[in-house]
Amino acid sequence: MRIKSIHYFSGIVISVFVAFHLLNHASSVFGAEQHIAVMELFRVVYRNVFVETLLLAAVLVQIITGLWLFNKGRKWATTFFEKLQIWSGLYLAIFFVIHLSAVLGGRLVLHLDTNFYFGVAGLNTFPFNLFFIPYYGLAVLSFFGHIAAIHQRKMKPSVLGLSPTAQSKFMLGFGLLFTLFLFYGLTNHFQSVEIPAAYGVLVGK
Ligand code: HEM
Repeated sequence: MRIKSIHYFSGIVISVFVAFHLLNHASSVFGAEQHIAVMELFRVVYRNVFVETLLLAAVLVQIITGLWLFNKGRKWATTFFEKLQIWSGLYLAIFFVIHLSAVLGGRLVLHLDTNFYFGVAGLNTFPFNLFFIPYYGLAVLSFFGHIAAIHQRKMKPSVLGLSPTAQSKFMLGFGLLFTLFLFYGLTNHFQSVEIPAAYGVLVGK
């Protein structure tokens, strides 16, 4: 199978997880309890040896094939969406390495439950938020950007009078609004929530 097809199929596996993952984070607008309840529900599906192995293997394959494609794509990318596809892909590859090392390290080394508190501790503590805001923000935007760029290349006919380019711009706009909404949820309730002492280790407390 060609590298591009492998990248495409592992990307689909990851995208299904990420769609639920981001919905989970969006549920934080209703508070920490709600976020944890949704995560526990979703974990029934992804926190078992079969699904998690498939997901982590897909991420590994995505990073390796993605870096190979980035190296090739750099030479031919000229339009806005071609450039968006390769640079958002590069960012996602870097993000995956850091994010999964942090999540697996939190679980296996620090023996923490990697729940809401784990996700938002750095995001809500100065000066750690100077890193975490752009780090998470760019990850969510890159996810939408990468998909919008693929959509722009693959879709041929226009839908409801919108060309593929206009549809992809719409997806980018939606991604931006969704990112703002997500950050509102992940930071808004934090002040009124008691952070368990075990998570202090993440922000030097
Ligand atoms: C606001 C942004 C994000 C936050 C706060 C966040 C936080 C977390 C947390 C707390 C976990 C652990 C989940 C658990 O223990 O059940 C996790 C896992 C994970 N996240 Fe994120 N995440 C964010 C964005 C993303 C994005 C944009 C992607 C991919 C494009 C992503 C990919 C993953 C993956 C693949 C896992 C591993 C799931 C597993 O095997 O348990 N995350 N994230």
